[in-house]
Amino acid sequence: MLFKLDDVEQLTRNDIRKMYSDYVNPGLVSMMGLLDFDKYFVKAQGCYVWDSEGNKYIDFLGAYGALNLGHNPPEVLQALQKVCKKPNLLQASISTYAAVLGHNLSQIIPKGLKNCFFGNSGAEAVEGALKAARIATGKTKIISCEGSFHGKTFGALSATGRKKYQNPFEPLVPGFEKVPYDDLEALEEKLKAKDVAAFIVEPIQGEGGIIVPKQGYLKGAKELCSKYEALLIADEIQTGFGRTGKMFASDDVSPDIMCIAKSLGGGVMPIGAFICTADVWDKAFGGMEKCLLHTSTFGGNTMACAAGIAAINTIIEKNLPEKAAEMGKYMLDGLKTLKDQYKIIKDVRGKGLMIGIEFETAEKSLLNRVTGGAVNKFYSEFTGSMVAGELLNNHHIITAYTLNNPNVIRIEPPLIISKEDIDIMLNALEDILKKNKGLFKLTLSTVKNVTGSLFSK
Ligand SMILES: Cc1ncc(COP(=O)(O)O)c(C=O)c1O
Repeated sequence: MLFKLDDVEQLTRNDIRKMYSDYVNPGLVSMMGLLDFDKYFVKAQGCYVWDSEGNKYIDFLGAYGALNLGHNPPEVLQALQKVCKKPNLLQASISTYAAVLGHNLSQIIPKGLKNCFFGNSGAEAVEGALKAARIATGKTKIISCEGSFHGKTFGALSATGRKKYQNPFEPLVPGFEKVPYDDLEALEEKLKAKDVAAFIVEPIQGEGGIIVPKQGYLKGAKELCSKYEALLIADEIQTGFGRTGKMFASDDVSPDIMCIAKSLGGGVMPIGAFICTADVWDKAFGGMEKCLLHTSTFGGNTMACAAGIAAINTIIEKNLPEKAAEMGKYMLDGLKTLKDQYKIIKDVRGKGLMIGIEFETAEKSLLNRVTGGAVNKFYSEFTGSMVAGELLNNHHIITAYTLNNPNVIRIEPPLIISKEDIDIMLNALEDILKKNKGLFKLTLSTVKNVTGSLFSK
């Protein structure tokens, strides 16, 4: 039998869990179940989502930076309504809405950037940027950073700085080398031979654990790239569109290529892009010979571009970069106060509303002594996810750990978050830390939850 869309509303949480397990990804269902992360969410608006039992949750995760405008922003939904009778895909013509989105982007992006290529995701934006860099420079070597995250397609994965995601897929694309993040000397060493096509870098490392580099790092990187004739690719996929308190974190750097995605689609449509200088475009894809060297069927479709146009207008009309700066400071100040009180918090850091809370690893905890290190090995990597589990299940606050560093919880709420909701989050965190008086009890309560959920499913 086939389900109709209307039937979906009638399905239970267990129906969905089983179908996802049978037909999509069984391992993910088990993993989400471990920390009771597989709630059945049925409604979303702004900073909030509701589960099937009517409980309201505050979303402090914001789809890793894709929900800068919040869930289902009315401005973006209305834009989709407005264009839904237009041709969405018509390759036998140039896309009206891609042209206008390109124009609008030119008004807000760092100086010097101009030509856009539209695709459908962050990884696709990175793929295009890497290809553009190779063809424009005639060189093949790409430098990226340890701890970085640029996506999981082959090119993007080759640039990503985490072995865990790379090793199972070797051999990756040749010509990729790594340097430590925030280390200009190491970068210069790699660039010296002038055989590098591009250095790709996140202005703040997201999945690496919300790592903020020293002031001037990006500018320094740009100077070195110019000196040694390599291109600078700024990966603003997570930092873009106001997240760090500025429209783009590389606003004053003028990268040669910039990658964007996530909030470009207003949290509704999948869209990503790389934008480059006219010079790079001309060398890479200039003229009729080369204008179709890199394409994507859905790239620049009307719905996605209309969402992008509405998203950019809304971000500007609502002053979201400034709001992120103000609310981010408020949140970070609150977290710093908690850090001074609770030793389990190792560090809090970030810019705007891209904030990380790093927890002490379990090695230092009582648990190590009690279990002789047995349980510790697993849990030492996952303190962040344990706190995220407590926040979700006991306080109805959604967060998650960073992919490359599970001891860091990321705070990336929609940029429309209020002071009241930030207070709720800070109080919840304090409650967890106070009640658990350190990692030991927290770990035990999580072990109990995990065992409980294993047996109840
Ligand atoms: C900095 C950065 N680059 C690239 C990507 C990949 O984007 P996508 O998941 O849309 O492929 C991400 C995703 O988290 C990211 O944070």
